[in-house]
Amino acid sequence: MRRRRNSAPGGSGAAVVRGLLASVVCAASSVGAAAPLEPVQVPDTLAQRLQPCMACHGTEGRASPQGYLPRIAGKPAAYLFQQLLNFRDGRRSNSAMAGFLALQRDDYLREMAGYFAALDLPYPGPAQTTGVAASPAELARGAQLAHRGDPARGLPACSACHGSALGGMLPAVPGLLGLPRDYLIAQLGAWQTGQRHATAPDCMAELSRRLAPEDASAVASWLAAQPVPPGLKAAATRTTAAPLACGSIERPAR
Ligand code: HEC
Ligand code: HEC
Repeated sequence: MRRRRNSAPGGSGAAVVRGLLASVVCAASSVGAAAPLEPVQVPDTLAQRLQPCMACHGTEGRASPQGYLPRIAGKPAAYLFQQLLNFRDGRRSNSAMAGFLALQRDDYLREMAGYFAALDLPYPGPAQTTGVAASPAELARGAQLAHRGDPARGLPACSACHGSALGGMLPAVPGLLGLPRDYLIAQLGAWQTGQRHATAPDCMAELSRRLAPEDASAVASWLAAQPVPPGLKAAATRTTAAPLACGSIERPAR
């Protein structure tokens, strides 16, 4: 008999009644069925348990480029695991995320991170990731910061750590393309104001403090306006030292 998915505890009374009716019909139609009605069960797979995440993070974890939400599908597992620990333990602040993760064991968070990291899904096309209103001068400054940095301000290129194609770097640096502009600006701001922390030494906190406000806006506008090349993946683990010391790179969460 097919089991119904929509009669989880807390589901509507009507759904439960429909579930029971379906069970009655099934039971009556099976030859010689004398068994009592089975309780309706929700399959307890990891994918099923992660359904509530998709309400915000979009179908299968590929958030839309509009608005605020970050995509989580396909990011390096150690990065995602570290972020789940950060939200749970208060090193990143978001009440919805903290509420979902409160009291969850490390093993379960690691399992969730592995699930989303393994999802290999195309990014939305360029038409959806473009359309940011920024002047050509602002975009040119953003491109410069992303690929060449600004030695005068002590700013290494973003690509030095996030990969030459900005698709991230294994094991724990996330990609920077396909993220909404507002989300990027908010993360740089959260590092500046101490609302987001990464493993010490926290290179992103240091770098965010060196970025002028107009530079944060320029680099976020440029990044959000870039199409994501098909098949973009995190680059291989670095063999040289990062241009700033980063705890998340030196001691990735396991
Ligand atoms: C109510 C909406 C909501 C739900 C439900 C939700 N999230 Fe989030 N999630 C957010 C928001 C908003 C952020 C960005 C927070 C910030 O600004 O730091 C976020 C951030 C994240 C990040 C960090 C991404 C990055 O690139 O750093 C991960 C990982 C994540 N969520 C995983 C999950 C998982 C797993 C679940 C299900 C257990 C979940 N989320 C459920 C809203 C939600
Ligand atoms: C010295 C290495 C390094 C450089 C250079 C660097 N980053 Fe990062 N970045 C990291 C690491 C490591 C993380 C993961 C931090 C964590 O574990 O939370 C990160 C994370 C981020 C995130 C969070 C992404 C998300 O999904 O939440 C943003 C945004 C970001 N960096 C933007 C930038 C920008 C913009 C630049 C260039 C101006 C830059 N980074 C340059 C190392 C670097």
